[in-house]
Amino acid sequence: MRSQSWKNGLIPPAFLLGMSKGISVVEALVEDSRISGFYKLPREDRIKKVIELTGISEEEIKPLTDPGSVDLEILDHMIENVIGAMTLPLGIATNFRINEQDYLIPMALEEPSVVAAASNAARMTRPYGGFTATDTGPIMIAQIQVVNVPTPHSAKLRIIEEKPMLLDLANEQDPILVKFGGGARDIRVRIIDTSLGSMVICELLVDTRDAMGANAVNTMAEALAPKIEDITGGKVLLRILSNLAEKRLVRARATFDKEMLGGEEVVDGIIAAWAFAEADPYRCATHNKGIMNGIDSVVIATGNDFRAIEAGAHSFASVDGYSSLTKYEKDAEGNLIGSIEIPMAVGLVGGATKVHPVARAAVKILGVKTGMELGHVIASVGLAQNLAALRALASEGIQRGHMSLHARNVAATAGARGDLVDKIAKILVEEKNVKVERAKELLEELSKSTK
Ligand code: MEV
Repeated sequence: MRSQSWKNGLIPPAFLLGMSKGISVVEALVEDSRISGFYKLPREDRIKKVIELTGISEEEIKPLTDPGSVDLEILDHMIENVIGAMTLPLGIATNFRINEQDYLIPMALEEPSVVAAASNAARMTRPYGGFTATDTGPIMIAQIQVVNVPTPHSAKLRIIEEKPMLLDLANEQDPILVKFGGGARDIRVRIIDTSLGSMVICELLVDTRDAMGANAVNTMAEALAPKIEDITGGKVLLRILSNLAEKRLVRARATFDKEMLGGEEVVDGIIAAWAFAEADPYRCATHNKGIMNGIDSVVIATGNDFRAIEAGAHSFASVDGYSSLTKYEKDAEGNLIGSIEIPMAVGLVGGATKVHPVARAAVKILGVKTGMELGHVIASVGLAQNLAALRALASEGIQRGHMSLHARNVAATAGARGDLVDKIAKILVEEKNVKVERAKELLEELSKSTK
C-alpha cells in the first residue's frame, strides 16, 4: 500500500523535487505489481484492484474508467475546433519492478497483445530484481539558426565568450523554472554546411526539471535571438527546440530468465533477431516500432507528446546509421540481458499531463514523482515490449498470441460475457475459424447447455 508518511508532517517529495502545482502530490508506489490472473478479472474487479493497490480515489479514477464523465469543456480549450473526443482503451501492465519499486503501468493504445506482452516480459525479469534505470537529467536543446554570418568561426567564439550574459538572459525568461532548480545551463555552437552555404547554429541547453519544456526553451531561444544577431553580425531565422533530445536520455537494463523465455534456443533466437535489426534498416524499423508500441502507449496515457518521443527515438537511432534502440547479450548462465537507451522528453507538469483528467489519473496510478522517473518506467516498458516481440518472433511467431486475443475480441463482439469469452475464444482458435458468425453459434449452443 502507499505510504502516507508525508501527510504526517513531512514535506511531500514532489515539492522537494520541484513539481509545480496542478498535479496532485504523488504518494509512494504499489508494493507488489504482480497480480496473478488480472486479465481474467471482470473490468469492474480490475478497477477495484487498481484502487486498492494504488490508493487512487474513486473520484480521481472516474475520468479514466468512465470516459463519458470527462468534461468536454476541458478538451475544448486544449485544441481548436473541438467537436468531441477520441477514446482509446487503457490497460494496466502488471509485474513491473524498476529500481526496486513496483509499478502498475497505464498503457493507452488500440493494438491487442501489447499490454499482455509487456506484462509477461516484465514477469521474466523479476527473479533478477526487475529493471535498473538511470538518466542523464532533463536537459533540452533549443536551436538558434544564424545565416549570413560574415566570419562564422570568430562568431562562434564570440558567442562562447558571451555565454554568462546569454545564460543570464535566458534564465530571466523563466524565474519559476529557475526557482525549482532548473534553467539554462550551457551554450554550444556549431557551424554547419548547407545547400545555402554555412550557417552558425547556436544551441542552448536547458534543464527543464519536471516539465517537457518546449515552451520554456522556445521562449528562451526567442529572447536570445537579438543578442545573437548583435554578436554574430548575421541574421537569426529559426528559434526552436530540437526533438533529438540527446541530453535527456533514459537507460534501462534487465536480465530475462532463460527458462522463462523458453530455453537456450529461444535466447539465441532473440539475439539473432536483434542482430538482424542492427544490420538491416528494413527490419530495424519494425523492431523499433515494437519498442514504440510500449513507449507511446505510456506516453499517451500520461498526456505527453508522443510525436516528440517518436521523433527523438528515431533520430537518436539514426545518429550513426539507423540501428536498434535496444541491445541484447547473454550472461554466464545463459540468461538474456537486454538494455535500452532512448531520449525521453516527458514531463509531469504543464500541457495535457496537468490538464487532462485521464492523464492525471494515469500519473496517479503510476505514482511517479519526477519526469525522469516517468522516463525510467517508459524505457523499461519499451525494453519489455521489444523482448516480448522478439521472443514471439523467434519462437512460435506472433500470430498465435495475436489470434487468441483476437478470438477473445470476436467472442465479446458476438455477445459473450464472463467465462464464455475464454471458452468460445478457445474453440474459435482450435477450429481455426475466428469469425463473429461462428462465435454467435457457439454462444447460443453454450448458453443453452448452461441453462
Ligand atoms: C507489431 O506492432 C510490432 C512487431 O512487428 C515488432 C517486431 O517485429 O519486433 C511485432
